[in-house]
Amino acid sequence: FTPGPLNTSKTVKEAMLSDVGSRDVSFINITANIRRSLLTIADADSTVFTAILLQGSGTYAIEAVFANALGRQNGKALIISNGAYGDRMAAICKQGAYNYRMIRVDETEPFDLVAIEKELREGGYTLVAAVHCETSTGQFNLIEELASLVSRASDAKFFVDAMSSFGAVPISLKDTRIDFLVSSANKCLQGVPGFAFVLAKISTLESYKGRCTSWSLDLVAQYEALEKSGQFRCTPPTHTMLAFQQALTEHAEEGGVAGRQRRYTENNRVISEGMRRLGFRTLLHDQSPYIITSFVYPKDDHFDFEDFYGRLSKCGQVIYPGKVSSADCFRLGNIGDLWPADCQKLVDHIKDALHDMGVHVPIVY
Ligand SMILES: Cc1ncc(COP(=O)(O)O)c(C=O)c1O
Repeated sequence: FTPGPLNTSKTVKEAMLSDVGSRDVSFINITANIRRSLLTIADADSTVFTAILLQGSGTYAIEAVFANALGRQNGKALIISNGAYGDRMAAICKQGAYNYRMIRVDETEPFDLVAIEKELREGGYTLVAAVHCETSTGQFNLIEELASLVSRASDAKFFVDAMSSFGAVPISLKDTRIDFLVSSANKCLQGVPGFAFVLAKISTLESYKGRCTSWSLDLVAQYEALEKSGQFRCTPPTHTMLAFQQALTEHAEEGGVAGRQRRYTENNRVISEGMRRLGFRTLLHDQSPYIITSFVYPKDDHFDFEDFYGRLSKCGQVIYPGKVSSADCFRLGNIGDLWPADCQKLVDHIKDALHDMGVHVPIVY
């Protein structure tokens, strides 16, 4: 019940039981197939967008976008944040000594579009960056609205971190003015960790040629290699890619984005209703998101998160600590190879753990 790495199916894991040469034609075909499928999932026109695969976790691809957009030129980024992953974007820019500003709203609040518009009109920004699903709270941000605002109020390019939403939350690169979208293998597409990907508008990407100050994060160079030889520039995560190919097949079999959205929504409903019956309160008032939910710690002397976590973990139920600065919370993710029955089982284990700890149920606040 973490937001990734997460449960994967047996067949995804079994796909890693063979070895493949990274320069072999079969692997080159797998790479091409994965790149094509990612564009299809994003509803992107393949003459306008490209999919660049990059070794490493999701953060590497996020850093790559900033390094390419802002590296060796006078670019300026506006980061819009309402949580830890938006803040991480700012940390990346700070460490890279890039010119940036962050608009930060409280973790439980949506973006303030009026304030953002004012800043965009006055700030001379070349890049705007925001997180789609802020996994630290579960909040869904208004990416479509933000994309139109960015193009209406500025010449800036728009970059979305859709790490924990891509593949399960509909997003159309045909209809939305996004230049870069990043996600990774081990989130809603249900692969294993090992690479991330950037869906990039080709014309914007090509305009960044020669800007990146990092060799290994150079997206233009990686794109050119993938286009020219069909290969990564250096060792690709072969087994992760084999697993991912199988994961994409299973994503399509489930009905693509709509199918996954349906199951995750149902998973979330079972967890949210079960937790509400136990008396738990969610951090966000409007808990419409369906990827991960933050629950506020009970005000009960018998509740200790480490103890609670340990008891659940012993029963095979791995939950997630909170990542919010303003409140004591824990999080329950419902993505991955998890089904409503698994979610009910978790709620039952939570009830038993609370009982064994001597926490009063229903929870009091
Ligand atoms: C929205 C978001 N952005 C960025 C990241 C960082 O990804 P990674 O840990 O794969 O580097 C995560 C991880 O959960 C995330 O949820």
